[in-house]
Amino acid sequence: MGGLEPPTQCARVCGRKRFLAEEIVHNKLRIVIVSLAIATSGGAMAAQAPIPAIVDKGRPPEVIACAACHLPNGAGRLENAALASETVGYFEQQITNFKSGDRNGSGDNAQKTMIQIAKALTPDEVDAAATYFSRVPAVSFGKVVESATAGDRIVEMPDNQAGGTYTAYVSPGTLAKGKELATSETSDKTIACKECHGDDLKGDGDEVPWIAGRSPTYIFRQLTNIKNKTRAGSSVPMQMVVEKLTPDDMIAIAAYVATLKP
Ligand code: HEC
Ligand code: HEC
Repeated sequence: MGGLEPPTQCARVCGRKRFLAEEIVHNKLRIVIVSLAIATSGGAMAAQAPIPAIVDKGRPPEVIACAACHLPNGAGRLENAALASETVGYFEQQITNFKSGDRNGSGDNAQKTMIQIAKALTPDEVDAAATYFSRVPAVSFGKVVESATAGDRIVEMPDNQAGGTYTAYVSPGTLAKGKELATSETSDKTIACKECHGDDLKGDGDEVPWIAGRSPTYIFRQLTNIKNKTRAGSSVPMQMVVEKLTPDDMIAIAAYVATLKP
């Protein structure tokens, strides 16, 4: 949470909570209350994190507020992307890719809007947005449920109107198949994701993003775009990962990776 700390009020509020907690004589109770205080102050800090104008309000008429689509906590929605905890380097590289045409993706309207926005952003605006989101903790997209009625696809639906979390349905056996493909070190079909994305798939430096717990629809879309080479440029290392994968394989991998903790 590095940069989300410490708005000045927080120092005061947290300090007072800690002081109150220390008044409690009973040891166990004290521990509980201290952890509660920390948890609450964490929430307060997140709420008070200074949100840059470009994220919160955008720059009309060219730039729609990032938060309007990616949400203020960077959790994103399935048709866009989770931005929370992405490194500044990876984030800025993607803006460059949208601008250069290296990331034309599926060509749907949501993506076209993102490309327009990327083209309109100044380097300072990109930097402000990237820095803000890099400091917001990543959250899981939601949960994956195996269901006989899902069919050969991912059916991902918002849990509520706000669209903060989702439930994705996939056919029985999908998660086991996905786990095998994503983790096998001897498979001749693909390369274990952790080789580049790190042991818990939480990313590695400025080049390789975190993927654990991302929306399975988003993951599937990116794998497909990379395979179709409508997402190229810095994603070239991913080519050998997707080369031999079928759409069913990619559904399975996406569903499995989505179940992991970000
Ligand atoms: C109208 C909705 C919309 C708005 C507003 C929007 N985006 Fe996006 N953004 C998208 C979509 C859709 C994608 C996913 C494109 C794809 O599938 O390749 C995306 C993807 C991204 C990515 C790539 C993330 C990744 O994991 O690779 C970055 C970075 C990004 N947006 C930054 C921004 C910034 C910065 C702003 C505000 C200045 C912004 N976006 C505003 C729709 C939006
Ligand atoms: C050889 C290294 C390597 C391996 C192995 C690898 N990746 Fe990647 N992956 C990358 C790099 C590098 C990127 C960043 C691409 C870019 O800059 O556009 C990436 C990006 C991605 C993205 C896009 C994330 C986003 O936010 O848009 C997804 C999804 C992904 N990888 C899934 C996987 C899965 C699933 C596996 C395992 C089956 C895997 N990767 C294995 C190197 C790798």
